[in-house]
Amino acid sequence: MKILALGDIVGEATLSFLSRTLPTKRKQLGADLVIANGENVCDVKGISPTAADALIDCGVDLLTSGNHVFDRRDIYDYLDSTKTLIRPLNYPAECPGEGARIVTSADGWKVLVLNVSGCAFMEALNNPFTSVERALDSYRGKYDLAVLDVHAEATSEKIAIARYFDGRLAAIFGTHTHVQTADERVLAGGTGYITDLGMTGPVDGILGVRAEEVIFKSRTHLPRRFTVAGGEIVAHGALFDVDAVTGRCKSVERVVFGASVSETRG
Ligand SMILES: [Fe+2]
Repeated sequence: MKILALGDIVGEATLSFLSRTLPTKRKQLGADLVIANGENVCDVKGISPTAADALIDCGVDLLTSGNHVFDRRDIYDYLDSTKTLIRPLNYPAECPGEGARIVTSADGWKVLVLNVSGCAFMEALNNPFTSVERALDSYRGKYDLAVLDVHAEATSEKIAIARYFDGRLAAIFGTHTHVQTADERVLAGGTGYITDLGMTGPVDGILGVRAEEVIFKSRTHLPRRFTVAGGEIVAHGALFDVDAVTGRCKSVERVVFGASVSETRG
């Protein structure tokens, strides 16, 4: 079976882009399951119930998230009632939503999707290793294969989590940095891995934000309100080809679609 995972979706224009492109892309790639990190889909941050529903209508089966998932109050009740949006497992139990969900792929496999946040250079949440371990224990025997979105800043922390759980999950992919890494591989234990899927959003800015605003803040350290960049939108992600019977990943391939690689100025 094939699992397409898309990196952080940024901005409402990207929602329209995905509604035009994702249904065809999903067919072309033969994806049986599509997972996407949707925590930044609203301009400028967060995710609303309407935007989450719209992403599901585009052909995403399950949305993961991260440190911006609670930015909008209107998502709290939605997180408690939806089956298609999860938040990192390692937030305190009082937080709305769940950190894991079983979804059925188009070819009939029960896939446990887990979402965890890193703690290096991020909020000091519960230990991500322990949180994933506990979730795997509590869902034991209820799923055919499992995948994990590690929403984290530090590459070393993502690789450490991947190596620790290698062989117990079919795929582990990182999100949050908005820049795709080129280290996709099948680890020794059979887990397909990539440190960061990259961003699905406007590539002419800086991580999806208008370049001049980020440059101003970086140069002066003065506060500046950020807005979503315009221009070309590109989707970044990875396609995991998994043997659902053994739970081992056969191959990982980076996926980029939507526009050219080079920029034009003027
Ligand atoms: Fe994030």
